[in-house]
Amino acid sequence: MFKLQGIMLPSVMVVFAILSCTRAENPAVQVTLTDKWLQYGEDNHLRLLCVWSLDVSCVHASPKSVAVKHVGAGWIQDKLEHITFPDISGDVDILIGHVYYTLSGIRITKCDLPEPVLEFFQSTGLKTSIVGLNAALVGNWRTSFGIIHDSGSFDMAIFSVSLTSVVQLGRDPDGHLSITSIGCEPQVGNVAIQFHGGASFMFQPFVDHYKDKIVSVIQSNICPNVQTAIDDLESHLQAMSISYDVNEVLTVELPLTSPPVISGDDVNLGLKGEFYSIETHQEPPFVAQPFVLPKEPNYMMSVGLSEFMLNSASFGYFSAGNLQVLVNDSMIPPKSPIHLNTTSMGMFIPQLPKLYPDMLMNLQVYATEAPMLSLQMDVVEVGAQLGAKAFAIEPNGTQVPLFTLSVETRLSGKMWIVDEKLKANAMLDNITLTLASSEVGTFKMDALENVVKMGINLMGLPKLNALLGDGIVLPQMKQAQLVNPVLKLEKGFLVISSDTKIVQTNRNFSTL
Ligand SMILES: *[C@@H]1O[C@H](CO)[C@@H](O)[C@H](O)[C@H]1NC(C)=O
Ligand SMILES: *[C@@H]1O[C@H](CO)[C@@H](O)[C@H](O)[C@H]1NC(C)=O
Ligand SMILES: *[C@@H]1O[C@H](CO)[C@@H](O)[C@H](O)[C@H]1NC(C)=O
Ligand SMILES: *[C@@H]1O[C@H](CO)[C@@H](O)[C@H](O)[C@H]1NC(C)=O
Ligand SMILES: *[C@@H]1O[C@H](CO)[C@@H](O)[C@H](O)[C@H]1NC(C)=O
Repeated sequence: MFKLQGIMLPSVMVVFAILSCTRAENPAVQVTLTDKWLQYGEDNHLRLLCVWSLDVSCVHASPKSVAVKHVGAGWIQDKLEHITFPDISGDVDILIGHVYYTLSGIRITKCDLPEPVLEFFQSTGLKTSIVGLNAALVGNWRTSFGIIHDSGSFDMAIFSVSLTSVVQLGRDPDGHLSITSIGCEPQVGNVAIQFHGGASFMFQPFVDHYKDKIVSVIQSNICPNVQTAIDDLESHLQAMSISYDVNEVLTVELPLTSPPVISGDDVNLGLKGEFYSIETHQEPPFVAQPFVLPKEPNYMMSVGLSEFMLNSASFGYFSAGNLQVLVNDSMIPPKSPIHLNTTSMGMFIPQLPKLYPDMLMNLQVYATEAPMLSLQMDVVEVGAQLGAKAFAIEPNGTQVPLFTLSVETRLSGKMWIVDEKLKANAMLDNITLTLASSEVGTFKMDALENVVKMGINLMGLPKLNALLGDGIVLPQMKQAQLVNPVLKLEKGFLVISSDTKIVQTNRNFSTL
């Protein structure tokens, strides 16, 4: 007994260790596609493919196509045209003996494709039903009756084909969307055949005798072909990229964090949504918090972005060393009463012009921590910790360090969407300056702080707000465009709810 415990205890601890490491990751991005999205318009064919290929770019669609429903129908048409039917052979008793027949080279020439019906199915599935498909086929026939061989061609029509296919949506170990066929029910209503050539008039009357066999062969071939189409999509999904470079500094990773969840009339996808510096790929010292995306059944889709996603971008820039700027006097408007030189700064630091008379100055401003964004009901708050190192520039160009300030600042703002652009407006809530170190002795901060505050409010913010007012074009997926998107700020996350329109655009992720 004692011995057994000795073995069990370490293994139990290993299990606990594994459990604590594999703590589920919260998605920073959630996408909900509603039943309205599934049902909208006449282009269900394409949406079906889009669900399956997640990125709504539908790579199978021809980039030159304009009408969406033709893109999707064209894809299915193309699939149908490449369906291969096996040869059908058998024999018919024609009273005076048996005629052995083979129908070969059967292919679809025309297909009248009814609009598929798409439904969410149970907790992870998607059901597609097609009712009333008719198709025209051609092929060749061969018969043998004793030593008599004969051959020719035939036309076939298949009527009232219906098909119900259920796929399960899942997540592969890398975080790709995966689809698996979990149900396929074909039904062929009827077939009609017209033989041509040879002695076809002889056995045309016997069609009724082997029609059932043809129906059953065609019926049994539908699901393997559906399976092939699903396998094609699955391998396309597997090959899809789950991380994208946003610009030369940042990359964003968007693998699924869990399998898609279907609840009633929508499907929810949770994506990692984390930005990294391409150079450092460093993990930020904070993790994604869970959030619940509110249901918006009146929109086709909702996308929720948690503040973690935005902060991971900030941390990415910070860890790549991108959050710093050198400020010199030529950046200060000429009309400004205060300039970045030792004479002008003498107002706040009386000893400065005595030590370094009449010299220009430089200010090296850098973030000491990644600025953190906090989303509240209707407001965004940004806190930043900055350092500012001041230098005097000697006539021979040598930079002499003077002092270092530590700057703590808080901004708040509003965000909204107009004309498919994300716009914002910011205001300064607070700024605190402290002297971190000094090569020129101490001096008082109050007056300097007031001047900086005034400078930001009079010059900095109007510039920033003009920029934010121009807005950023929302990232677009290759063939999907947002229609009347609205943005809502919630505690910890923001939600963009929108209808979508599938169009061909040249915009892609690099326009973020
Ligand atoms: C100030 O900086 C800008 C850009 O970094 C530079 O083009 C300009 O020459 C600098 N001016 C002075 C006076 O150093
Ligand atoms: C320093 O700034 C003041 C204005 O505050 C200006 O009159 C003076 O010419 C400047 N000195 C230098 C060296 O640029
Ligand atoms: C620049 O001038 C200062 C004082 O005028 C002097 O201390 C320093 O050595 C000089 N630097 C160079 C590189 O000449
Ligand atoms: C500004 O920040 C300082 C120091 O952090 C704090 O004492 C003060 O209350 C803040 N003021 C406002 C208006 O938030
Ligand atoms: C995105 O679009 C830009 C210009 O429109 C193009 O240069 C770039 O190659 C595109 N990137 C991808 C991944 O399609």
